[in-house]
Amino acid sequence: MVYKKVDKIKEQISAISIGCWNFGGDWDSSDEQNSINIVHAAIEEGINFFDVAPVYGWGVSETILGKALKGGKREKVLIASKGGLLWNDKHETTNNLSKASLSKEIDASLIRLQTDYIDIYQMHWPDPNVPLEETAEALDKIKKSGKIRYVGLSNFAQKDVEKMMTMIEVHCQQSLYNMLERNPISYHSIPLDYRTEKEVLPMVRKHGQAFLPYSPLFQGLLAGKFTKDKKFSERDIRNANPKLVGEDFEIYYNATLQIQRIADEMGHPMNEVALNWLRQKPDITSIIGGVSSIAQLEKNLHCTTWEIDDAYMEKINEILKPFEDR
Ligand SMILES: NC(=O)c1ccc[n+]([C@@H]2O[C@H](COP(=O)([O-])OP(=O)(O)OC[C@H]3O[C@@H](n4cnc5c(N)ncnc54)[C@H](OP(=O)(O)O)[C@@H]3O)[C@@H](O)[C@H]2O)c1
Repeated sequence: MVYKKVDKIKEQISAISIGCWNFGGDWDSSDEQNSINIVHAAIEEGINFFDVAPVYGWGVSETILGKALKGGKREKVLIASKGGLLWNDKHETTNNLSKASLSKEIDASLIRLQTDYIDIYQMHWPDPNVPLEETAEALDKIKKSGKIRYVGLSNFAQKDVEKMMTMIEVHCQQSLYNMLERNPISYHSIPLDYRTEKEVLPMVRKHGQAFLPYSPLFQGLLAGKFTKDKKFSERDIRNANPKLVGEDFEIYYNATLQIQRIADEMGHPMNEVALNWLRQKPDITSIIGGVSSIAQLEKNLHCTTWEIDDAYMEKINEILKPFEDR
């Protein structure tokens, strides 16, 4: 395993980690024992970082991660969970970063995760109805109580990150980032108020914050697993991604054919090329990729055994030029 270190976080963090969203069934491929086995195999391979959220599987992903870390494993890893997205019986979500809500949410997460503390507590999405001051006050109180160690912001505009930093220390950021979504303006149908490569990367670099790129394999597209006429099962969350099911799919799909050609020339699979393109950037701390099997995990971890050299990096970046502003 390769580890990375940033100023704001004491521990070394594995460059490849596990995103636990799909443990909870939102990707229609969930099986509790399989997810637990993935966590155990990941720890065996030196992964020490797991990203999760209450809303993933409506509590189920946190619960499964909690079960998987029982028996002395919890202390060996860092858990990054989130707060600020609530759901109702119909599974409709609302943003809520109020002090009252966060103070309840943290306790529910700790129960599901079967732990006394969360290492990095990330605000999942901004909440325009709650002043940043109130959220900062809530986080400060939760941190002083020992229930969290570090604060993270996910999907926040950088002007709001800067404002938060005048009130509370921000240790980590998480944004959408992969080869074909470098400065994306939307995620599923949600507009994004930040540009990852242009704004977030310089910010984390300047402040020594950890940076976690999400959807590093473009939800599977950059693993080369989709055909042009692929169909997701009805329950798969990827149906909500217009870039995978809408008219734009062809643009992204065609780009993967070009990346695949370079990957073939290099003699490495595309998933490893996509992961190394991220991993080799100094601003990227840990790639929080999702996997649905141990076989996928092993395939992804193989990227740590080699590096893309400068000449190939140049060739790849030439292909990716049209995606600099996407
Ligand atoms: N902060 C946020 O708002 C936010 C938003 C999205 C995600 N996230 C975090 O980021 C994590 C990862 O993002 P993501 O799950 O959206 O996307 P991702 O990591 O780009 O894609 C995960 C999917 O790619 C496929 N895959 C992975 N490795 C593969 C391999 N070697 N061969 C073939 N297929 C492979 C699997 O698809 P199959 O399931 O089809 O096998 C897997 O479920 C999430 O788990 C979550 O923790 C955060």
